[in-house]
Amino acid sequence: MSRIAVLKGGRSLERQVSLRSGARVEDALERVGHEVVGIDVGFDVIERLRAAAPDAAFIALHGQDGEDGTVQELLEVLGIPYTGSGVLACLRSWDKILTKHLLLEAGLPTPEFFALAETAFEELGARDALPAIEERLSFPIVAKPATGGSALGIKFARAAADVPAALVAAFSYADRVVLERHVRGRDLAVSILDDADGPVALPIVEAVPRDEDFYDFEARYEIGRTSFVCPAELAPALTQQTHKLALATYASLGLSGFARVDLMLEEASGELFVLEANAIPGLTETSLLPQAAEAQGIGLDELIGRIVELALARGPVGAAG
Ligand SMILES: Nc1ncnc2c1ncn2[C@@H]1O[C@H](COP(=O)(O)OP(=O)(O)O)[C@@H](O)[C@H]1O
Ligand SMILES: [Mg+2]
Repeated sequence: MSRIAVLKGGRSLERQVSLRSGARVEDALERVGHEVVGIDVGFDVIERLRAAAPDAAFIALHGQDGEDGTVQELLEVLGIPYTGSGVLACLRSWDKILTKHLLLEAGLPTPEFFALAETAFEELGARDALPAIEERLSFPIVAKPATGGSALGIKFARAAADVPAALVAAFSYADRVVLERHVRGRDLAVSILDDADGPVALPIVEAVPRDEDFYDFEARYEIGRTSFVCPAELAPALTQQTHKLALATYASLGLSGFARVDLMLEEASGELFVLEANAIPGLTETSLLPQAAEAQGIGLDELIGRIVELALARGPVGAAG
């Protein structure tokens, strides 16, 4: 039995999802016999971690602070082992622009894109470059904030007239935005879990939106608005190819412990494209990683137990000397 601090909530836009993930994680850890100290992450987090003196921290935070490496850095300062990826892998997967450049560098497919900072519009007249971007990507174009998750701030622009509003929406979430080629096809997610022999890709989850055009924050979390199929119905060779691409993405970003890679399977070409990787995927009852693990015969308690064992086995990270 170990004492595990569960870090949850926080100030990110995904606070509510994180509170639900955290509750699931706490229950599971208790059932597998650990002592649990729940911490809603705020100003007193250092003080509370010092007081709890846990053997490891389970980071059940999504979005800012949890997935961008901030909390990982603090845990390293305190010498507390933690679940999931290290600081560098978090930085790489939190920033979609960085992720996409790293994918291209590794020779992995990701939809064509242009990334622009708000300052490029305010100070460098980037508006005048929009027609050239629109021509290269052709419509519809996806505008998304460089950082963030849960489809927050993502807009599909169907024509040039939609682009300014899509940019404004995306810039309300981040100071850099990705304009990306829209890939029409199937929405696939591959969860990955480390085991003794290295990372293992779990059965693929396909998200099937009930309403073609409607894909937003509410749809993602409200039960019934999106149906999930796991394992996704794909030919065995395609399943293998998708797993291979997800594992290559995981490796190229340096992710560890567990993560989820989101991809699109293009209908017209049959080609796969990586959209992004999530260092701390959701752990709620409707989340994709628990569904994928379940399909592999790994129940939630075992999943959470294994993730925490990996952290305990790794020990404190980044301790100098
Ligand atoms: N280029 C794209 N083409 C088609 N659909 C996309 C594209 N980018 C995002 N989407 C849709 O939006 C969802 C969320 O996008 P994603 O890049 O995974 O960001 P996040 O999950 O961090 O909000 C995807 O699962 C997919 O349904
Ligand atoms: Mg995603």
